[in-house]
Amino acid sequence: MHVMAVNSTGLQSSQGEGPDRSRPSLSADVVEALSRTFLRCVECSTLYPAIEAGQAPRYRCACGGVLDVETQFRLPQQQHLADSSDSVEYGSSSEVESDTPVAGAAWRQLFDERAANPPIWSISIDKLLLDYSGVWRYRELILSAPERFVVSRPEGNTGLYPVGIENCGAGRMGHRQIGAYAGLERFFLKHEGENPSGSFKDRGMTVGVTMANLLGATAVACASTGNTSASLASYAAQVGMKGIVFLPAGSVAGGKLAQSLAYGAKTIQIEGDFDDAMHLVEQVCNELGIYLLNSLNPFRVEGQKAIGFEILQQLDWHAPDWLILPAGNLGNTSAIGKAFRQAYDLSLISHMPRIASIQAAGANPFYRSFMQGFAKRETVHAETVATAIKIGNPVSHTRARRVIEESDGIVEEVTDEEILAAKTVIDRAGIGCEPASAATLAGARKLVARGIIKRDEQVVGVLTGNLLKDSKTGIPQTLDNTVVKATIETVRGVLLHE
Ligand code: F0G
Repeated sequence: MHVMAVNSTGLQSSQGEGPDRSRPSLSADVVEALSRTFLRCVECSTLYPAIEAGQAPRYRCACGGVLDVETQFRLPQQQHLADSSDSVEYGSSSEVESDTPVAGAAWRQLFDERAANPPIWSISIDKLLLDYSGVWRYRELILSAPERFVVSRPEGNTGLYPVGIENCGAGRMGHRQIGAYAGLERFFLKHEGENPSGSFKDRGMTVGVTMANLLGATAVACASTGNTSASLASYAAQVGMKGIVFLPAGSVAGGKLAQSLAYGAKTIQIEGDFDDAMHLVEQVCNELGIYLLNSLNPFRVEGQKAIGFEILQQLDWHAPDWLILPAGNLGNTSAIGKAFRQAYDLSLISHMPRIASIQAAGANPFYRSFMQGFAKRETVHAETVATAIKIGNPVSHTRARRVIEESDGIVEEVTDEEILAAKTVIDRAGIGCEPASAATLAGARKLVARGIIKRDEQVVGVLTGNLLKDSKTGIPQTLDNTVVKATIETVRGVLLHE
């Protein structure tokens, strides 16, 4: 094929029919590791095996619905754990039998031991320190994969900042401004912009690229508003895979575009918006046998669940009342909601947090559907300064709808002005974030003002991307006007007249 040398990722088990070099065979340990993992259609409930011998990877059901990973969770054999049986199996979230506190205690102990005393960063090439990753620490709940295939930077372990009026801590008057702006006493911000490539996407990408790796893929692709592409480019480069990213021309913030180019991904800007790019990449991947790494890929969603698990662990397994996050393609709403549901089913926590998904008013299809009791799936032509969430036809609508319904959650919209005002508050507190992330604070403020979130409820908001991703939007660009003579007199004049 002239386009590029890309192997098919179609699969064939070791015992499969004759040799077909374009379809790498799977080793026995991969087949065994994934034998208890299935994909269920979120629309019609059809169940598929996670990998199908001789078949290209499956991203959709025959009916067109997107797929959700279902697996059996198995507590590993650990002599020191409270439960000393060989292994303890729990069903998938829908089939859980055990709900005892003991079950939850054993899981909590496992994850807490892994998180304690993280090894100093003297990483040896042979030994991947899985416990040190904020995703693979929870591996039993994420993906069963032989360790040699895991592609990790590592990721996660991001800050959870107490910023509420009451919980910000003595002396943190800057952070307290955020709580005051929202009107919340006990408020935390989880800064996913502290991940290796600067956004929460790394959590899903480590799992997606690991899947690509164990399936023998040589090329991976995504459509993106900029962060997924930056993350894909980074993780693909780490293992020498070809990264291919489709971006809506003119709608990607400079820092993100620079990352994709710097990490060496084939960067294709299309005439059109994210929704066009998304449609295109699915066709391209199916036709050219490239492994697709948008959140249409259900394994990416599994990785993003780790945001939820890590928040719970940082709160010592006390679930907050609310979790607020920005919403675009709705992968993250789906993932964090699923994590909370599974944590609850495994008795890691005693109640489900309510989820509030915040959309930009100019890119609000999920909000419009919510306002009709989800009677109809809406699409819009998206326009917002928060380019990361400029999405009019979200892929994970059905998954996310389930999360909002199950968690007694809510969908809210905020204007661009509200987003930029909230961003300034977060930036001035010294924490900083990219515009889309500030929808979280704008949404919190609005939901508190509406009386939906109570002032004394415990709330966690997710900041999804780093300030440096977009150094233009919502940041004063006046540095040129402040060039002064390098003399003490001039500087004294500038400072005293401020
Ligand atoms: N915040 C940021 C910074 C994002 O980059 C995205 C999505 C979202 C929020 C919304 O998350 O799509 O899971 O609802 N960015 C994708 C991308 C679309 O291509 O980087 P979502």
